[in-house]
Amino acid sequence: MHLNTGTLESLSKRDQRHIWHPLTQHKTHPEMLGITRASGVYLYDEQGRAYIDGIASWYTAVYGHCNPYITGRVAGQMQKLDQVVFSGFTHEPAVALSERLIPLLPGNQSRLFFSDNGSTAVEVAIKMALQYHFNKGRKKQVLLAFEEGFHGDTFGAMSVSGLSVYNGPFEDLSLEVRRIPVPMTDAPDAILQQLDALLNENEVAAFIYEPLVQGAAAMKVHNRNGLGRILSFLRERGILLIADEVMTGFGKTGTRFASEQLETSPDIICLSKALTAGLLPMAVTSCSEEIFDAFYSDRLSDGFFHGHTYTANPLACTAALAGIELLLSDEIQEGIGLIQSSHKEFLERIALHPKIADYRQCGVILALDLATSASRYGNFRDEVMDFFMARGIFLRPLGNTVYLLPPYVISPDQLGEVYGAIVQLLDKI
Ligand SMILES: Cc1ncc(COP(=O)(O)O)c(C=O)c1O
Repeated sequence: MHLNTGTLESLSKRDQRHIWHPLTQHKTHPEMLGITRASGVYLYDEQGRAYIDGIASWYTAVYGHCNPYITGRVAGQMQKLDQVVFSGFTHEPAVALSERLIPLLPGNQSRLFFSDNGSTAVEVAIKMALQYHFNKGRKKQVLLAFEEGFHGDTFGAMSVSGLSVYNGPFEDLSLEVRRIPVPMTDAPDAILQQLDALLNENEVAAFIYEPLVQGAAAMKVHNRNGLGRILSFLRERGILLIADEVMTGFGKTGTRFASEQLETSPDIICLSKALTAGLLPMAVTSCSEEIFDAFYSDRLSDGFFHGHTYTANPLACTAALAGIELLLSDEIQEGIGLIQSSHKEFLERIALHPKIADYRQCGVILALDLATSASRYGNFRDEVMDFFMARGIFLRPLGNTVYLLPPYVISPDQLGEVYGAIVQLLDKI
């Protein structure tokens, strides 16, 4: 066993004394697995056991853990400039990142606003949209969102999210939000009618959506044409479009950004997670020049008075720059292609298995609904997770949905190992 100096207790035991974990009911789930290192697709626990990280640590470490290209670049930056206030100052990593990222973004994105995580990227986007109208002298304060969407845990992000396990206790404190169903067909006529009525009755500021795939809703995949029709309808009616690409960004859906696959481009885009290649927390909210212009004025109060202490941290910006270079490399593009074709072949092989109720694939994301009922955080979900962990694979099912979103550097053999474990599970349940 790998023990920490000065104590005979495991990490797992020491953890229980003072730490409060996210999304955890400590009474029923008191024990956390101590992870001591990670490399490539593997996480290693304190007993030295290895686990394939089948979800790239919540969709962040897509170029593999401790990727030497990323860590090397950040180590170099660390010797030059660690942190500086980003109000009144600027620095090379942030400027270079803006020059590199803006041309890659879909549509007419032209400005980056930095924050710390996916929730703050969304919070910033919502505030930007609301103040955009405010600055133009319009009282538009209602937001539109998809049912079952997930956009984060801060108040604004929670308000536009649809999952009640996260936001139930705070529902009465929420922003004003109207929800529409997710488009599952080419012809979302009923949704368009509902939207028409909503727009006639409400002063809608913006629509926020996870383009193509709703991650926390068990990787729900939209009908692309259906989503396209909703977006063009809203654009015609002058509603600002906020694409939350926190999960879908940086290659997950097969293209660099999911919004590239849709004709109507967003006005505002939220990015985080794989932005910094799994190394450091950071987010950006990008917007068009038209949005920025509404804040550009001789009046101080027209400006956007939102800022976090670590805004545009130079190390995180450097990780993001290095990550983008990897994303564009032939090696990573081949990796993404290989995962997509492997998923497709695997699905062809197992789709008719009686224990699969439904399945979907979008880019490197593969989701299988097991033919069994299971609550989101119930025993069955835990048993399935334990089943995979016992086989050296980290997957974190959402209810009865097992999904994969592996690092792009996963090898065919490692991917085969994960598929093999899924087949074993299907044959067992
Ligand atoms: C689409 C989407 N938006 C926002 C968030 C919130 O990101 P964070 O957990 O970094 O606050 C998530 C997290 O899973 C997400 O999937």
